[in-house]
Amino acid sequence: MRKKIVERYSQALATSRQLYERAQKVFPSGVTHDGRYLRPFPPYIVRAKGAHKWDVDGREYVDYWVGHGSLLLGHNRPEVEAAVQEQLSRGTHYGASHEREVEWGEMVVQLIPSAERVKFTSSGTEATLMAIRLARAYTGKRKIVKFEGHFHGWHDQVVEGVMPPYEVPVSPGLLPEVVNSTLLCPPNDSRTLRRILEEDPDVACVIIEPTGASFGTIPTKGEFLRELRQITSEHQVVLIFDEVITGFRCSPGGAQGYYQVLPDLTTLAKILAGGLPGGAVAGKREIMELLEFKEDREWNRYRKMAHPGTYNANPLSATAGVTTLRIIAPGEENKQADKIAQHLREELNRVIAKHDLPWRVYGDFSGFHFLFHYEEAGSTPFDPENFHYDYRKLKGGVDPQFFHAFRCAMLLNGVDIPNTPMTSSAHTLADVDRTATAFDQAITLLKEDGWIEG
Ligand SMILES: Cc1ncc(COP(=O)(O)O)c(C=O)c1O
Repeated sequence: MRKKIVERYSQALATSRQLYERAQKVFPSGVTHDGRYLRPFPPYIVRAKGAHKWDVDGREYVDYWVGHGSLLLGHNRPEVEAAVQEQLSRGTHYGASHEREVEWGEMVVQLIPSAERVKFTSSGTEATLMAIRLARAYTGKRKIVKFEGHFHGWHDQVVEGVMPPYEVPVSPGLLPEVVNSTLLCPPNDSRTLRRILEEDPDVACVIIEPTGASFGTIPTKGEFLRELRQITSEHQVVLIFDEVITGFRCSPGGAQGYYQVLPDLTTLAKILAGGLPGGAVAGKREIMELLEFKEDREWNRYRKMAHPGTYNANPLSATAGVTTLRIIAPGEENKQADKIAQHLREELNRVIAKHDLPWRVYGDFSGFHFLFHYEEAGSTPFDPENFHYDYRKLKGGVDPQFFHAFRCAMLLNGVDIPNTPMTSSAHTLADVDRTATAFDQAITLLKEDGWIEG
C-alpha cells in the first residue's frame, strides 16, 4: 500500500527524477525554494505559456503556481514578453537612474491608494524588512506585532508565528532578543490586539496580510481591517499591509483598494515586477521621508535610513512591471482571474461531494485552498470566511506526506498545485474542467493507494 502513486510518478517523470539526483548533490534537499520541496522529487519544467507549463518529459500541466503568485496575466503574456525582449537588447543594468523606473514608480502611486512615495527593493522579504525598519525609525520603538499564520518572508523579524505550533519560529539561528521583539496575536482577534498595545508601549508597527494568512488560507475580512486601522491609529502604531500577494491581485489597488482601508505603509512584490525579481515599499510621505537625503550632514549620517541594493529597480524588472501594471490598471484581468477561481472552487467541491469526502475547497478573489480534515469541525457549519473554524487547522494542519501524495497524484493527472494555489487571467473554463477531472482521478488514485478510505 501507499506505493502506487510514487511508482507511477517516478516512471512518468523519469527525466525529472534524474535531474533531482544531480540536484541533491548541489542543493540542500535538492531544491532552491522550500516551497518546491516534493517527495519523491519535484517536476522539472522547461517551458510555460499562458496557464500551462511543460516538464522535461514533455508532460503538460495546468499551472496554479503562477510564478509563486507573480503572474496574474499568466506566463509570457505577449506584451510583457515583447517589452522585456526589447529592453534586453538595450541593456540589463545601467548602474544608473532610467526612465522605466520613474514610470514604474508612477504606476504604483497611481494604483495603490495609500502610496505617496515608493522605494523599490529586490524581493518581498526585502520589502517587509524595509517597512519594519522604517516603522522603528519613525516611531523610535522596538517591537512589532504580527498575526499567527501570516507570512512576510524569511528575515529574522518575521519567521516567528508562521506555522503551528506558533510559539516556535520556522527557523533556528535567531537572536532571542529578536524573537522576543516579535509579538504574536491570533488572527482576527481585535481584543487581544488592543490588550497587547495597551500593555506594551514599545510597539512600532503591526503587520498583516490583509486578506489573511497566505492569501486567505486563514481568512480576514474588511471589517477586521477597519478595526485594525482604528486601533493602530489610536495607539500611534504604524500599520503595514503586506500586499506582496494581494497587491494588484485583489484589485488593481490591491486589498486596500478593494476594502478601502488605507495602511501607513504597504509592501509589494510578485505582480509588481511582472514575473521578474522585484519588491517595493510604498506609503505615507512623512514616513518615507526617512529614506531621503537632505542638505544636512547630521540627518544624512544619523537619521536617514540607508538603502542600497544592486538590483533595485533594474531595467528588466521595471519594464516587466510597468508593462504588467498598465494591463492590470483597468481591472478586467483581476475580474477574470477571480471568476475562474470561483468556478474552480465550485467544481472542486462538486467532486468532493461526489466522493463523499470530508474535505472543502474555499477561498476568495483568485485563490483556492484545500481543507482535508473538515470532519474535525464537528457540527459547526463550514464557514471559514466567518471564522467558524479553528484557524490552527486551516494552515499547516495537513499531514505533509499526504500532501506530497496528493500533489504527485495531481501532477500525474496534469495539474500542478502548490501550497497556496491561485488562478491567473489566462486560466479558462477548459482549464477548470481539466482540473476537476484531474482532481476526480487523483482522489481515485489516493483511494487505491490507501491514503483515503473508500
Ligand atoms: C505575503 C508575503 N510577504 C512576503 C513574501 C516574501 O516575498 P519574497 O518571496 O519575494 O521574498 C511573500 C512570499 O511569498 C508573501 O507571500
